[in-house]
Amino acid sequence: MSDQKRILVTSALPYANGPLHLGHLAGAYLTPDLYVRYKRLTGADIVYICGSDEHGVPITIAAEKEGVTPQDIVDRYHEMNKKVFEDFGISFDYYGRTSSPVHHETSQNMFTVLHEKGFFKKKTEKQLYDPKAEMFLPDRYVKGICPNCGYEEAYGDQCENCGISLSPTELKFPVSALTGEEPVLKETEHWYMPLGDIQPKLEKWLETREHWKPNVMGQVKSWLHDGLADRAATRDLSWGVPVPLEEAKGKVLYVWFDAPIGYISATKEWAREQGKPDAWKDYWQNEDCELYHFIGKDNIVFHCIMFPIVLMEHGDYVLPKNVPANEFLNLEGRKLSTSRGWAVWLHEYLEDFEPDLLRYALGATLPESKDSDFSWNDFQARVNNELAAILGNFVYRSLSFTEKFANGKVPEFIEPTKTDLEALASIQIQKEKVTAAYEGFKFKEAIAETMQLARIGNKYFTETEPWKTRNTHPQACNNTLYVSLQLCAALSVMMEPVLPTSMKKLRNQLGVADGLSWNDISDSMLSSTTKVSAKEVLFTKIEDDQIQAQISRLEERAKANEPESPFPPIKEDIQFGDFAKLDLRAGEILSYKAVPKSDKLLELRVDLGLEQRTIVSGIAKHVDFETLVGQKVSVVANLAPKKLMGIESQGMILMAEDSEGRLTFVDTNSENGSPIT
Ligand code: 2FM
Ligand code: ZN
Repeated sequence: MSDQKRILVTSALPYANGPLHLGHLAGAYLTPDLYVRYKRLTGADIVYICGSDEHGVPITIAAEKEGVTPQDIVDRYHEMNKKVFEDFGISFDYYGRTSSPVHHETSQNMFTVLHEKGFFKKKTEKQLYDPKAEMFLPDRYVKGICPNCGYEEAYGDQCENCGISLSPTELKFPVSALTGEEPVLKETEHWYMPLGDIQPKLEKWLETREHWKPNVMGQVKSWLHDGLADRAATRDLSWGVPVPLEEAKGKVLYVWFDAPIGYISATKEWAREQGKPDAWKDYWQNEDCELYHFIGKDNIVFHCIMFPIVLMEHGDYVLPKNVPANEFLNLEGRKLSTSRGWAVWLHEYLEDFEPDLLRYALGATLPESKDSDFSWNDFQARVNNELAAILGNFVYRSLSFTEKFANGKVPEFIEPTKTDLEALASIQIQKEKVTAAYEGFKFKEAIAETMQLARIGNKYFTETEPWKTRNTHPQACNNTLYVSLQLCAALSVMMEPVLPTSMKKLRNQLGVADGLSWNDISDSMLSSTTKVSAKEVLFTKIEDDQIQAQISRLEERAKANEPESPFPPIKEDIQFGDFAKLDLRAGEILSYKAVPKSDKLLELRVDLGLEQRTIVSGIAKHVDFETLVGQKVSVVANLAPKKLMGIESQGMILMAEDSEGRLTFVDTNSENGSPIT
């Protein structure tokens, strides 16, 4: 064990309400895994924690949709997600779940301690209630129009279009996500976290944070600039951690109160599993421990503001040293959307390709400081042009050449040239660059600089032409092989965080022991006469049709998930001349009469500026009679007259029909008689 500080790394706990996709991996799991694997190689005392977030409205809504219990949902997805992470080599030390008894106890205890310290403000207030479902409608149980951007499908806790955080009562035209009913306001009591009161203390603490990414600190500052509002820590729901207060019977903790505490609970469970039940305190309750939360950008407020306040006010816990949040990953130039079928599911990916390929391709395009894009063509290019053509090719030619022409043994290194020595020296140079990149959370750079070592090796092999020197100058050939094999050995450890499975294979071919450390990366990892063999090609090229199959699957799925339009399709094209034949005019309704024996038709007198017309129109069920006289309308003025219920109609009034079949006037402010062109 080194003398480095203890490190605790967490990845956002994914909701156990569905399978994981590419966006998850790019957001909160691949980067910490790279970091943790690198740190483990340096000998750091590091624990990596994650688990399933099993509470919250997304879970109960998924359960209701399927007609099963929330427990059924979380059991299913907890197992599935845990396995997919394992398959991708995401190397958590412990993967917990927030439905566990340890978690319930830990989060209740956190609430109780804070409550006893007088942290919470109890408030009675009116909240949205669905009388039909007989329940309050917190968070995602309500949908409506976003007051910020006008998005029509905004949730009660957040608008997924503009990202703003909301409370259900802020939504315009709210409806219950359960019954579609319009909710009513009903009184209820809740325990609020007075975030605004703690803001000055939080700001002081934030000033002490160093090296935070500008995108993270920028978002935090913008929240602080707007001023923090109180946030309820409790909910009127049946699924969740019960609030540990007699007077709060039937209420549970807000999912964003309990979920981050899941990091602590999972560390406790990890410690028990290690047979050292108190070991969790060495991390959570140790001022010298460095805590890092890896998350996607939608979780910034919770990890940089809310949870630190909770930890701060409790008093016994370490606060995060850094929260290196990633931005979002788009897919083929479009925003990822699971409901629209625009996603690549990780379990499906694994049916077709090796996990290491995606670790590399995604790692090379991570949304570290701004949103980035994943495309299947780029994936193919990364695999074919980088993994196969550079790394794989370099390793294979070095090994197979040694096998064929040097009896499979690392040759002696005698009287090297400047070129040989420069190539060998690049190991140390690249190692320093890669180390600095990992330490600075610059993972794309770390990957690129590691690949650069393979690039250097490949170029060196080509330039020194061992296939020629083998005959003309055998020692030069031996030196090429010696240097190339040392580069391969260095790569087999340096590339380990990115490509754990392939680098294990490579170490095996090189006879390099597993368990080497970052410190062991050097220009002399292989002694002369070590036996090596080219047992298998590390990466094979991906064919165009394999990529096309992925793109087609994505497009077909998106098509199948396209929301059915409530409106009729657009009619066939017409020529301008067809349109010009219409004479549309602005008009105004002067009077109206019911048409006998019809509950739909009205006989209207309409002023068209040049003249008045009688128009019979089927709008009786759609109009407001109080405002009908004086209503401005658009009229088809040259429609041939036609008798309707015995009355001659001299034109037609234009109406717009919405998705529910409601008609409204096509209003105009222009003076009567104005042509509409
Ligand atoms: O956004 C999400 O998927 C949340 N389930 C993340 C929770 S992170 C932590 F606080 F547990
Ligand atoms: Zn919005």
